[in-house]
Amino acid sequence: MEQENRSAVPERGPITVRVLPDSEAVTRAAAKTLAEWLTADVERKGSAVLALSGGSTPRNLFSVLASRVYEGLVPWRSVHLIWGDERCVPPDHPDSNYGMAAGTGLLGRPFAGVHRMPGELDPEEGASRYEEVLRGLGGGGEFPLDVALNGMGEDGHTASLFPGSSTLDETARWVAPAEEHGAHRRLTLTLPAFRQARRILFLVTGAGKAQAAHRVLAECDESLPSTRVMLLGPQVRWLLDRDAAGEMDGKATRLPLC
Ligand code: 6PG
Repeated sequence: MEQENRSAVPERGPITVRVLPDSEAVTRAAAKTLAEWLTADVERKGSAVLALSGGSTPRNLFSVLASRVYEGLVPWRSVHLIWGDERCVPPDHPDSNYGMAAGTGLLGRPFAGVHRMPGELDPEEGASRYEEVLRGLGGGGEFPLDVALNGMGEDGHTASLFPGSSTLDETARWVAPAEEHGAHRRLTLTLPAFRQARRILFLVTGAGKAQAAHRVLAECDESLPSTRVMLLGPQVRWLLDRDAAGEMDGKATRLPLC
């Protein structure tokens, strides 16, 4: 049974936590949520900016969004696509988040714009170039991130904001280089950028994420970047499968406990 909790704290948007039976159900719910949110934003203001995460969790979601079923369910021509983070590799590298999305067919949708993070550049140069792209999208004002799709690592990182990273201290830039993780340095949206998102959708599946999910949703451990992003202010929806929910399964009506 799906459980949904709405806990709204006056100074920030509502945070909802949904626990679904398995990763396929999470994928279906995520596709439906993104379609609803993007359609609402385009109806409200004529366009929308969607930030994609990388990693493996969203791969099936991207394939679903690229399928015939979703051809007419999203106003693709009014949506600008950006990335929440990228590995510092060329777009055709097997570890590229852009390359992963391209491989699912999602980039074949007629987006208003596809704005790739330039992972092939020197990280500082790439970060400042991408910052210019985002400032252009926002017309020079606030960064108009409407929908951010985020994953979470087993260490509680999100995008390429890792626990203890100095990138978490960034207060002005929207895009910054992040230290090496795995084999590559990274580029990432920063806390100031995610703070300006209107909505954030976290996708978390698999038993390996259960401990981090508990630390974020049940303990509100702010040493974890995913907790920090969750508490920034936007409307946040968590979609977890039962494996990632672990002992929280069946208790979503009380989450998050902060
Ligand atoms: C990346 C992602 C990263 C990802 C988490 C979860 O570039 O790796 O943006 O933040 O969302 O590491 O990755 P999985 O989905 O592979 O578990």
